[in-house]
Amino acid sequence: MRERLPLPAAPPRYAYNFCAGPATLPRPVAERIREEFLAHAGDGASVVEISHKGARFAHILDTVETLFRSLCALPRSHHLFFMHGGARMQCSAVPLNLIGRSATRTAGYVETGLFARQAAREGARYGTARTVASSAATSFDRIPAVPARDCPSDAAFLHLTSNNTVYGTRWTDFPHDVPAPLVADATSDILSRRLDHDRFGVVYAGFQKNLGPAGMALVTVRDDLIGHALPGTPRLLDYAVQADTRSLDNTPNTFALFVLSLVLEWVRDQGGLAVVERHNEAKAALLYGALDRSAFYRPTARAEHRSVTNIVFRLADESLTGEFVALAESEGLLGLAGHRTVGGVRASVYNGMSEDGVRALAGFLREFERLRG
Ligand SMILES: Cc1ncc(COP(=O)(O)O)c(C=O)c1O
Repeated sequence: MRERLPLPAAPPRYAYNFCAGPATLPRPVAERIREEFLAHAGDGASVVEISHKGARFAHILDTVETLFRSLCALPRSHHLFFMHGGARMQCSAVPLNLIGRSATRTAGYVETGLFARQAAREGARYGTARTVASSAATSFDRIPAVPARDCPSDAAFLHLTSNNTVYGTRWTDFPHDVPAPLVADATSDILSRRLDHDRFGVVYAGFQKNLGPAGMALVTVRDDLIGHALPGTPRLLDYAVQADTRSLDNTPNTFALFVLSLVLEWVRDQGGLAVVERHNEAKAALLYGALDRSAFYRPTARAEHRSVTNIVFRLADESLTGEFVALAESEGLLGLAGHRTVGGVRASVYNGMSEDGVRALAGFLREFERLRG
């Protein structure tokens, strides 16, 4: 008989949520939402009941734009949009807006995992989506090299996924000297680290990891890439319409933008993006350190390409995975099952995960190994 872990008599008082997305918000942000949802307007209307054309919502949008631009050093040459449909809608919007700039309607894609593949598949609906580099042969355990000469000279853009949520890898050195604007899906690392926006034509990110509630995308677009939408592009997906209407051509998700304004104020109050990035590096180092200490756990990504926000590993004895995840949950460590397509374990540690939560998980890793190792 295996020794049983002592289970808590009552459900844990406070749970740490390691879910990959929708994901945990910084606790102070969740508390401000509760406090300000009704109080925000001061005249009986909550934040989801006010007009998106009125002065109070304009203030929220101003706050979001000003703070995102300053915290992320977004150059004046780039527009900032908020669009419906999450990150996946941008897999359509990017080729619809950009691919017409290539006479042969060609675009390059770097294949580093599930979402990168989905982006390329969608791009192929509008032209030729050329896979320029791939790490599929090694089960997406790394970021492949992308020699500039491999990017088609007639490509309208080169698409990559700056952090791969399912496989736990991330780019640190983005491709140099490619003959096309870089487009990044930054859904799982936006606002977790600094990014040199000057190097990107488009950056997009679904809200549900580091920004707020799911369903919206934050999109930055270099000015010269606006105004080239293919004929037939749905009006709401046309970047030129978003630029002309300041993302207000139809009613935006006002609640999501309200939450984003609080998230950005939280980042500012931490000391800015560089400070948040340092905290995230420290949290990841703590977890990888705990995993690397023994052969009981096996991180799947190559060390130099390891993600800081999605820490993916397997148990050497894979038959213990289900028990690991269930026991962790009973200890208040939630959402640790790996993506359904790959199994194993994944701890997502976005901005909202506290160092206490990471320490609790590191302690659980040690304890589980003591009992089952
Ligand atoms: C890197 C990446 N891209 C795209 C998506 C899909 O995002 P959405 O559900 O907002 O379309 C996800 C999943 O959350 C993701 O992690």
